Amino acid sequence: MKVFNNYFGEFGGRYVPEVLRKPLDELEIVFREAMEDPEFWEEYSSLMKQYVGRPTPLLYAENTTRLLGGAQVYIKLEGLANTGAHKINNALGQALIAKRMGKKRIIAETGAGQHGVATAAVCAKLGLDCHIYMGEVDIRRQRPNVFQMELYGAEVVPVTSGDKTLKDAVNEAMRDWASHPDDTHYLLGSALGPSPFPDMVREFQSVIGKEVDTIVQEKNLDVAAMVACVGGGSNAIGFFSPYLEKNKPRLIGAEAGGIGADIGQHASRMTGPGREGIVQGYKSLFLQNEDGQVLSTHSVSAGLDYAGIGPQLAHLGKTGRIEFVSITDKEALDTVKFFAEKEGVIFALESAHAGAAALKVIPTLPKDKAVIINMSGRGDKDIFITAGQLSRETWTKFLKDEVKRYES
Ligand SMILES: Cc1ncc(COP(=O)(O)O)c(C=O)c1O
Repeated sequence: MKVFNNYFGEFGGRYVPEVLRKPLDELEIVFREAMEDPEFWEEYSSLMKQYVGRPTPLLYAENTTRLLGGAQVYIKLEGLANTGAHKINNALGQALIAKRMGKKRIIAETGAGQHGVATAAVCAKLGLDCHIYMGEVDIRRQRPNVFQMELYGAEVVPVTSGDKTLKDAVNEAMRDWASHPDDTHYLLGSALGPSPFPDMVREFQSVIGKEVDTIVQEKNLDVAAMVACVGGGSNAIGFFSPYLEKNKPRLIGAEAGGIGADIGQHASRMTGPGREGIVQGYKSLFLQNEDGQVLSTHSVSAGLDYAGIGPQLAHLGKTGRIEFVSITDKEALDTVKFFAEKEGVIFALESAHAGAAALKVIPTLPKDKAVIINMSGRGDKDIFITAGQLSRETWTKFLKDEVKRYES
């Protein structure tokens, strides 16, 4: 696949106000140069090994395989990367690009907080000034990550506009960038936004798929399906990347089915009523009304709670190369519990959507095939949600006791 595509079928492009043209043009040039520069890759790979802890393991999920009686189950443990999710693969790459451009001020948006944590950590490591935009609703539901970002020395800027979630954080970050285009790099966290972001994010996340492919070749696995969750689409596009131009294996994207099919109850763009539109600088499929107004979304997982989808995934969904399924909040929560009990790994709520989709497919496939799930992140950050749902009484008592202890 070409490194720089700009458009993916009819989707993608760079639809931005005049003031952002120059920084995006500059970013495209530096990104293209860096991709061809062995020194850039040397520095990136060295940090990915020493600091991020790559390669991450591909776990054979033996108990699940036995229990389901279908295809062999493998889990790519991206949650074992430093900072707990795949987001750092891209954060590190873009921070090095920012340094190459001589930009010392970094801004980013975050939903689940994983991209914010990864960006804040990388900025601390590379000596960059870091500001993270985060919706007030997400600040509340992902508080452990807010604490971590601040510990790394970043400023977390609460976003109070709109639904106070990811889309609103992206809007604020874009506003900031438009006011400081010369000294600031907007370190976008998913495979979306104006070009060259979707290409750049895919290239940095492709390490996930490349590591998987190495093991697939070594073990001679016959992979029938690969499953990833899809918010904006960065973990999915990176995980799928070696196979996008082949017709095998099946590539399955799991989006947030939330609590129902009504407006504001889910974030199902591909399996739901996503419409073509131009929002936040790119053309893709969005949950929006007839006037193009972006609709509210819901998911138990902050990272999937977004009305748009990266343009390359939208295109690959339309051509049929990627299948999409929708997973409810309840199915995701049940899956967190399932893999914790059966395999000793705690999925992030986002990644649990992929796990849930895989659990439906695996029993339908023969034993000599393999299914690979991308556990894009680990579930530590979700403790205030999962504990509140899965062990409500004990957790509530613990919180009350802690408040008393703090106040005494
Ligand atoms: C662990 C994890 N997985 C998945 C996502 C969704 O993002 P993307 O679709 O870009 O991988 C997020 C977003 O915050 C996340 O934290």
